[in-house]
Amino acid sequence: MDKHPKRMERTMRAAIVTTPGGPEAIDLVDLPDPVPGDGEVVVAIQAAGVNPVDAQTRSGVYHDLGWVTSTPVGLGWDAVGVVRALGPGVTDVSLGQRVATLVGGVDRADGPYAELMVLAAADCAPVPESLSSDLAATVPLNATTAHQALAMLGGARDRHLLVTGAAGAVGGYAVELAAEQGFTVTGLARASDEEAVRRAGATFTDALPVEATFDAVLDAAALGDAALSSVRDGGDYVGVVPPALPDSVRGIRTQAVMAAPDGKLLSRLLEAAASGVITPRVHATMPLSEVREAHRMLDAGGLRGRIVLDPRR
Ligand SMILES: NC(=O)c1ccc[n+]([C@@H]2O[C@H](COP(=O)([O-])OP(=O)(O)OC[C@H]3O[C@@H](n4cnc5c(N)ncnc54)[C@H](OP(=O)(O)O)[C@@H]3O)[C@@H](O)[C@H]2O)c1
Repeated sequence: MDKHPKRMERTMRAAIVTTPGGPEAIDLVDLPDPVPGDGEVVVAIQAAGVNPVDAQTRSGVYHDLGWVTSTPVGLGWDAVGVVRALGPGVTDVSLGQRVATLVGGVDRADGPYAELMVLAAADCAPVPESLSSDLAATVPLNATTAHQALAMLGGARDRHLLVTGAAGAVGGYAVELAAEQGFTVTGLARASDEEAVRRAGATFTDALPVEATFDAVLDAAALGDAALSSVRDGGDYVGVVPPALPDSVRGIRTQAVMAAPDGKLLSRLLEAAASGVITPRVHATMPLSEVREAHRMLDAGGLRGRIVLDPRR
């Protein structure tokens, strides 16, 4: 008899894309349980946000840009889960703690659309007890993007800010954070979003103003030159799609945000969500096994609130 029987390798389910395409390009596969390295933790995922960037990764936008260089790719940027294993040197995260993380970048084989994921401990933020995992999963990418985009504007200074896509995930958080920071905010959204935009703290509009009156625009609807035309001479434009940054005109400073993980910032944003300063919105929570259907719904557009995947279901 073999004195050293081969240990059964434990596996977990994860969503991957080998050949980019429509929702059917996403496969659920069994992969070996991940092992944490130095400064890393393994998290049992409870909620993973489904964001436009995931659809762009799935459909090959980043393959075409040369940003994805290896296959398969994993999916997801928003991770919420419970810490199941600690790697060497991790002291500020504990076993059993519920944490959230923004997982950056697109050229990676893993992602939060999975039962387990290895995360950098430094990027993890504790989730306040009163905040559910699915609501928390809407915060890392979208609220971090909104906050980092506003930071690029260099403070409110009594300025009038236009947020396009003000009823969207990034735009909705941007309106609330900008109003909190002291900007006077106008939100551009669909007519049916008027009440939500006003409640978030902005004056509502459903059409881009004809005159260039705004000190700054945060272009969360990615309208590009059309949004730039609403900014006064010498004002500021911050976009959300770096490859589609409009050229500067009339002395307007144009920049694009690229959300970067920041555990301390995320901790503050989760507290803001728990205390009602920002408003997380979930359209639907679905099992990981329905990931293709979740992407069909995302592709169809018009959602208010994120779809969240729960691999425990
Ligand atoms: N650079 C980064 O780090 C970063 C991070 C996160 C997101 N993003 C990008 O940011 C963009 C927004 O993401 P999101 O998650 O906030 O998307 P979202 O939730 O779909 O929000 C976009 C919103 O803009 C609205 N909209 C589009 N065109 C409009 C128009 N002409 N007038 C009024 N409203 C309009 C949409 O309305 P309808 O649904 O009715 O069309 C939707 O409410 C995406 O392009 C995403 O890829 C970039």
